[in-house]
Amino acid sequence: PTPKLLKGRTVTITAGPTREALDPVRYITNHSSGKMGYALAHAAHTLGATVNLISGPVNIAAPQDLNITTVSSATEMHEAALKLAPQSDIFIGCAAVADYRAADIADQKIKKQGNEMTLTLVKNPDIIASVAALQDKRPYTVGFAAETQDIQQYALGKLKNKHLDMICANDVSQEGLGFNSDNNALTLFWANEQRTLPTSSKTELALTVIKAIAGKLS
Ligand code: PMT
Repeated sequence: PTPKLLKGRTVTITAGPTREALDPVRYITNHSSGKMGYALAHAAHTLGATVNLISGPVNIAAPQDLNITTVSSATEMHEAALKLAPQSDIFIGCAAVADYRAADIADQKIKKQGNEMTLTLVKNPDIIASVAALQDKRPYTVGFAAETQDIQQYALGKLKNKHLDMICANDVSQEGLGFNSDNNALTLFWANEQRTLPTSSKTELALTVIKAIAGKLS
């Protein structure tokens, strides 16, 4: 039996993509399936935690035993995260949050125009950075970094700039890993330590990641 390393702890996890509306029928999104984030949520539950899962739009059945909040946009995910983070011991941002949203969401379907059209986008709030910036009741804050090049350098940059305790980096340029696949490979970075987790199922990786986090808390 798995030791209940997180008994009495609350873990909040974001998963999946966000969806940024352009008009009533169109949106901007990405290829996140939610598999990695849901696997982390199940792993934390297996280790005895109370789990809040904040999920963007995915095609995974809503898990029993987890407190699920479903959201669509980054703005909604930000609001849910700031509500749950102060009640959490651990916050993990696995969602692929859109960095930008439309400056205006058209009320009516946008009509076909000339040969070019320009969309104006504005920056979304950085959810994980807002959580890490909490003064009171700041949880142990873990981010993910999805990179296609210079993985270590970019991941360490995000760890530092967003004031995270830990970041899990994945190379999303590799076929069969990262977005939407059942397998992944991760490098875990802390300020003064790193650990490489070779390719395996997201289920197995999630358990290793959650155990690594639990080890830092105790
Ligand atoms: O969902 P799957 O199909 O299983 O795929 C898993 C995954 C590839 C999506 C996952 O492993 C992963 O890498 N998630 C993070 C994706 C991402 O958006 O990375 P990023 O490097 O752009 O963002 C860095 C960190 O900041 C992340 O923790 C992200 O959640 C967070 N962020 C980013 C932008 C924003 N506005 N707010 C945020 O909180």
